[in-house]
Amino acid sequence: MPRTPLDLARATPDPPFEITLDGRPLPALPGQTLAAALWSAGILSWRTNRRDGRPRGAFCGIGSCYDCLATVNSRPNQRACLVPARPGDAVTTQEGTGRADLAV
Ligand code: FES
Repeated sequence: MPRTPLDLARATPDPPFEITLDGRPLPALPGQTLAAALWSAGILSWRTNRRDGRPRGAFCGIGSCYDCLATVNSRPNQRACLVPARPGDAVTTQEGTGRADLAV
C-alpha cells in the first residue's frame, strides 16, 4: 500500500474543507497554504505576469519571489505560498498587478 506524506508524519489533520479557484471548488486541508492546496489539486499556475502574460505559480515557496501572487477574497497581490487556506476562500486568477486602476 502506498504511503502518503500524512502517513509518514503520522499526521491526523482535521477534515478537509473547500476553497475555490475562479469558482471551481477544490479541497484543502487545515494547515495548507493556498499554494499547497492548489498544487494538491494539480494546479501549477494561477497568475500571469505584467510584461507578456506568461503563466506563473509558486516558485520559491517561501515568500521571496512574488511569483505566486493571487487575488484572495477580492484582495489582490496575496502570496499564495504564505496565506493559510481557510474554508470558503475564493482565489481568483490574477493578471498583472491585479488591479486595473494600478496598471501601468
Ligand atoms: S512562491 Fe515565491 S513568494 Fe510565493
